[in-house]
Amino acid sequence: RYRRRLGVWSYSQLLPEPKNRVTLNEGGTPLIRISKGLFGKFEGLNPTGSFKDRGMAIGVSLAKAIGVSNIVVASTGNTAASASAYGARAGLRAIVLLPSGKVARGKLAQSIIHGASIMSIDGYFDDALTEAMNMFKAGKAYSLNSINAWRLEGQKSIAYEIYEDIKVPDNVIVPVGNAGNIYAIWKGFWELMQIGLIDKVPRMIGVQAEGASPLYETWRRGSSELIEVKEPKTVASAIRIGKPVNWLKALKAVNNSGGLLVTVNDNEIMIARGRLARRGIFVEPASASTYAAYIKLIRNSVISNDERTVLVLTGHGLKDPDSVK
Ligand code: F0G
Repeated sequence: RYRRRLGVWSYSQLLPEPKNRVTLNEGGTPLIRISKGLFGKFEGLNPTGSFKDRGMAIGVSLAKAIGVSNIVVASTGNTAASASAYGARAGLRAIVLLPSGKVARGKLAQSIIHGASIMSIDGYFDDALTEAMNMFKAGKAYSLNSINAWRLEGQKSIAYEIYEDIKVPDNVIVPVGNAGNIYAIWKGFWELMQIGLIDKVPRMIGVQAEGASPLYETWRRGSSELIEVKEPKTVASAIRIGKPVNWLKALKAVNNSGGLLVTVNDNEIMIARGRLARRGIFVEPASASTYAAYIKLIRNSVISNDERTVLVLTGHGLKDPDSVK
């Protein structure tokens, strides 16, 4: 017998527990010290190279349990890669809808090699999501986008792992695309507070790219409706999203935790990525946006290095080799 790495499943008392687990040993990622007061939660070390595996393990296990045969996701790439791998693992057909020409090469390769049915959609992620939802509503496939609450349940384990390593940091910085993950992490900390293990949650800080910042604009203007971005544009293709479905949940996480939203531009993202790489940590551009935000917030004295801050480094650098020049 070998010692199994339980990862996400070590928190099964706080998670939905399917009869049979579909697993690739997701979770249990390292928290790496970057500099004084700063840590990176390296989610690139999950089985398919992004945090999506945490939620996909739970979601696909439940899909399998209820007896579906097809699963569907729209994706900027990582959700598709994860659904393809876990779908293959479970013996389910994965249908992945990708915005044409806007998905990083490594992610596309993953969906191909795991045997997903790939549909290329003219337009943006947001258009692909509408299409995926239509397939779900028509009963053609079970949706594993983050409107599926099981996905977010798995992703909240990021908070539990941070807690096990360093208790409650002052700030957690998360890249925001479809806006599910920032909520999931907040919910994880919030539950630890309800249980009585901690007495406060960290400030949740969401980062968006300047060319794709619907949540930031909505938050900044205090709008009660989502301010959509029609043609989102950024080098961080993972978070190139104009109409995040989980926007209300994300605002709840930010407001409840005394957090904030911030934008960074593509140049700042690429500089930040280079700086992380020269400390030995290779992440994709969307993930580097957290370090760019940290640099900006330190410079503007919004946070200090006397506080403890965690960057959620959501995806591995090998996902997007073409972004390295
Ligand atoms: N970082 C990476 C690497 C991502 O792939 C994503 C989302 C995010 C951050 C943002 O997380 O959507 O929960 O706010 N990627 C999705 C996908 C949209 O299709 O792979 P979010």
